[in-house]
Amino acid sequence: FKIIVVENYDEASSEAFKVMKEEVVSHEKPVLGLATGSTPIGLYKKMQADHKSNGTSYKNVITFNLDEYIGLPKSHEQTYYTFMHENLFDGLNIPEENIHIPVGDSDNVPAECVKYEEAMKEYNIDIQLLGIGGNGHIGFNEPGTSFDTLTHIVDLQEKTRLDNARFFDSIDEVPTQAITMGIATIMKSKKVLLVATGENKADAIYGMIKGPISEDCPASALQNHPNVIVIVDKAAASKL
Ligand code: F6R
Repeated sequence: FKIIVVENYDEASSEAFKVMKEEVVSHEKPVLGLATGSTPIGLYKKMQADHKSNGTSYKNVITFNLDEYIGLPKSHEQTYYTFMHENLFDGLNIPEENIHIPVGDSDNVPAECVKYEEAMKEYNIDIQLLGIGGNGHIGFNEPGTSFDTLTHIVDLQEKTRLDNARFFDSIDEVPTQAITMGIATIMKSKKVLLVATGENKADAIYGMIKGPISEDCPASALQNHPNVIVIVDKAAASKL
């Protein structure tokens, strides 16, 4: 691991931005793996600002998102499709056809998983951006997920559904399943950039870096990846 410790969330976003921008400007056709959640929002704002003020072009950029809920139409305000457009893509000049997000309302979701994995095989992700869950999850790969997994369907844990219920009109509307890149999928990307801030990530960061390589901490699989950059604030690094 290359570990960069910073003071706070804003500095973490700035460091992550430097890494992402370098990937974008150094490849003819950069292939970015992207994440949702609260962590990348600061980074995405910086990418949008940089595009606007410096004209950094995303015309040739290709993206693959980690995951998506199953069963919601794309236009639903809680899909990761909507999140990514609102928080990143709408502010860049990336062609819509270059954007890949698992199609959660496909009428054949297992086939969609295979198709998504095949598409990534064709492009090879240059850099995969990751957040990490307090329990060490990456993507929707919760503790206990096999390290051999490719893009697959997951049943959402009741706790995850309850946590997300506030974004929906009622708990019944919260999806029960999602599509996620698997751990083996994530391991195929040439580089991984994992960003984590806050004390509630400290145990997960410890487990990822110093803990045993174990399905109990999905992120610990990254100990076997040759090129991982970890950007953490002091709070998230406090148990290292
Ligand atoms: C996002 C994702 C999740 C988040 C993780 C951390 O696409 O797959 O694994 O990265 O849950 O979420 P935040 O950043 O909200 O703490």
